[in-house]
Amino acid sequence: MNVDLPLTPDYDAWPIEADLETVSFTPRLVTVRWSDGRESRYHGIWLRENAADATTVNPATRERILDLSTLPGWPEIGDAEIDDSGALCVDFVPEDRRLRFHPGWLRAHDYDNAEDPEAPPVPVAAWQGGSGQGPDSLDASGLLDTEPASEAEEAILAPALESVLGKGLVRLRGLPTEPDSLEAIARRIGPVRPTNFGQLFDVKAKPDPDSNAYTSIALPPHVDLPTREYQPGLQMLHCLENSVEGGEAVMLDGFAVAEALRTRNPEAFATLPRVRWCYANTAKATDYVWYAPMIRLDERGELLEVRIADFLRGPLQADFEEVEPAFDALMTLQRMLREPEFAIRFTYRPGDLVIFDNRRLLHARDAFEGSSGHRWLQGCYMERDEIRSRYRMVQRARRQR
Ligand SMILES: [Fe+2]
Repeated sequence: MNVDLPLTPDYDAWPIEADLETVSFTPRLVTVRWSDGRESRYHGIWLRENAADATTVNPATRERILDLSTLPGWPEIGDAEIDDSGALCVDFVPEDRRLRFHPGWLRAHDYDNAEDPEAPPVPVAAWQGGSGQGPDSLDASGLLDTEPASEAEEAILAPALESVLGKGLVRLRGLPTEPDSLEAIARRIGPVRPTNFGQLFDVKAKPDPDSNAYTSIALPPHVDLPTREYQPGLQMLHCLENSVEGGEAVMLDGFAVAEALRTRNPEAFATLPRVRWCYANTAKATDYVWYAPMIRLDERGELLEVRIADFLRGPLQADFEEVEPAFDALMTLQRMLREPEFAIRFTYRPGDLVIFDNRRLLHARDAFEGSSGHRWLQGCYMERDEIRSRYRMVQRARRQR
């Protein structure tokens, strides 16, 4: 009898890297052995929840419709075997239901053997700068001529997305220099996050500026919009013109600086995730204020974001005893931000697009001489989720090919 492999509870493709060879079970646990010798254990309740049949997952959306708490009892295992297609078949009691599991999907979700089941697709790699260092640079000249979601588009985007996920930064070169073309370029990755500065914003010296960015003065290392509860995860800066003297771009990996601080001055490092600073952008027509730590760690102690922008800090409103330690830690960090070995420096060329993680990287620029020529960047924001989703789609497309 020849039977097809079952569906998976998602839209992805899961190649079979090893076959299921043997299966054994207890009422609550299935243990399988794969053709390469690996052994994996799956809880019965985990399998029941992750079945792909129409009582568990809506076939139209592949979203779960099963509510485990509505089952007649704990989903115990009455039988388990490998069928002719190589799928795992499990009989669940007391439902009296046989469900089948795709071996490629099971193997890819083998939480029993995964070192870090939540590991990101591209590991985060903190980097130092120094002279001669620059961003990963890729030729993207044909990007807008490719079909959306085509192999040609992926060939340009995949390495770019990898650099952004791993290093927080990439530079695409050879893109058009027409004003507003950034919108079509950004859309190849995902939707733009509009702000009070617009869908796209122009970085050039302008009269009556509502930000230091719109002058020709130097900007210290900073992230954009730390004044928001959720600061944008990504920023894109697209160079349309650059003929001024000065205005060199400077970028630092905020995670590398934070890790160096953790090593060199643990006390200062412990202070910064604790103290909530005030970030304020009190312009003539808007008034954004948010309180947040300068360094945020996730539940596992890994760096999640930095929120550094000295010109957007408002008055500290911390506990009385925290004020001096807070400023001491702040100044320790500020001194490190000036160390040249953390920074890379480069000059924008028209057609360059720099994409960077705005909750991780700090960007700065030297002052430029406004009358020496024109410097015009257009920028936009996006979320980290868009890069991650786009990268997963590229991987999915490759698996399905
Ligand atoms: Fe900025």
